[in-house]
Amino acid sequence: MSSSNTVYRASTTAPVNIAVIKYWGKRDTALNLPTNSSLSVTLSQKSLRTHTTASCSESFSGPDTLILNGEKEDIQSSKRTQACLKHLRSLRQELESKDASLPKLSKWTLRLVSANNFPTAAGLASSAAGFAALVRAIADLYELPQSPKELSLIARQGSGSACRSLMGGYVAWRAGTNEDGSDSLAEEVAPLSHWPEMRALILIVSAEKKGVPSTAGMQTTVETSTLAPARFKEIVPQRMQEIEKAIKERDFETFARITMQDSNSFHAICLDSWPPIHYLNDVSRAAMNAVETANRKAGKLICAYTFDAGPNAVIYYLAEHAHQVAGVFRNILPQVPGWEGEFGGSIRPNEYGGLEQKTLMTLKAGVSRVICTAVGGGPEKVERHLVDARGNAVVD
Ligand code: DP6
Repeated sequence: MSSSNTVYRASTTAPVNIAVIKYWGKRDTALNLPTNSSLSVTLSQKSLRTHTTASCSESFSGPDTLILNGEKEDIQSSKRTQACLKHLRSLRQELESKDASLPKLSKWTLRLVSANNFPTAAGLASSAAGFAALVRAIADLYELPQSPKELSLIARQGSGSACRSLMGGYVAWRAGTNEDGSDSLAEEVAPLSHWPEMRALILIVSAEKKGVPSTAGMQTTVETSTLAPARFKEIVPQRMQEIEKAIKERDFETFARITMQDSNSFHAICLDSWPPIHYLNDVSRAAMNAVETANRKAGKLICAYTFDAGPNAVIYYLAEHAHQVAGVFRNILPQVPGWEGEFGGSIRPNEYGGLEQKTLMTLKAGVSRVICTAVGGGPEKVERHLVDARGNAVVD
């Protein structure tokens, strides 16, 4: 193979994250700068991850391409993807201008191939893992020296929540104050190893209709909600401090209370927007009810619900309380798929009669699958490429 035919490749997997302090509101829509800081738990890639290969070659021609789950995506008209690619290319160019011996990868067409290990039908927002994987894979292809924190600034321009998926464990996205967004980046609050016992049970709820997309919903909230300014200025900054302390001290009760309060505060400003935005449905409320019942029965907070821009419930709990929390849901939902695997397989059904008949029936009718997962690590470099040595996409 002549050198001009050489295909350069780098592959990575990146995780999903679920916020416990929610990002909802932009102060700058072009740069994707948030109205408030946020904090999330990175979830294990054993359950949920995006695998991306970035490749380039002097022999590739035409525009950059992205194939996602076997389908060609239109990245030319995606301003956000273009912003990420431009930024990454400029960093590579800096290296090439300092060292003339480096191949001019920055000039060549990119072929990107990406695949999720979870069904798109699950209704889980995959943009966070998607943009984190895209940025990490290209940064590796270009051999960029930038740290995950520095790269988070680029991923943020793809999708805000993506900046938090460049690290594992417990991750904060600092809103920052600079107009150019140079201080709006993610940083690790605590690594996975600090509190590895954290578990997450995701209840996938089939929505009747598709909700308002988050970018549009956030704008409506910023422009119309009368409650939002207090959330941005006072409530979230205080909660950030409290929850970071709770994570550092492994204080689950405080973590759980703030997680639930902040999810409710986020859905309250959605409802307070005009036109109002509804993401929760009866199944979500039944899940909240089951969580509250489990906590009441335990006499302390052993689990916490949180909801993003849709009806799916994410329930955080510690491994020691698996039977009291996830066991209850396993008993109610024995037939739904998703109980197998490392974090679900050993959960025994917990028969207890504390729940109202209506809650039981609503959960049974409305939950289509569960995902049993846990706190996990950050993006990982992998040797399995989704582009072969000739530059063709391979099936995952
Ligand atoms: C409710 O990161 O999807 O999940 O920046 O417009 O792409 P864009 O929004 P996105 O919003 C996520 C909103 C959320 C809360 C969160 O993850 O913090």
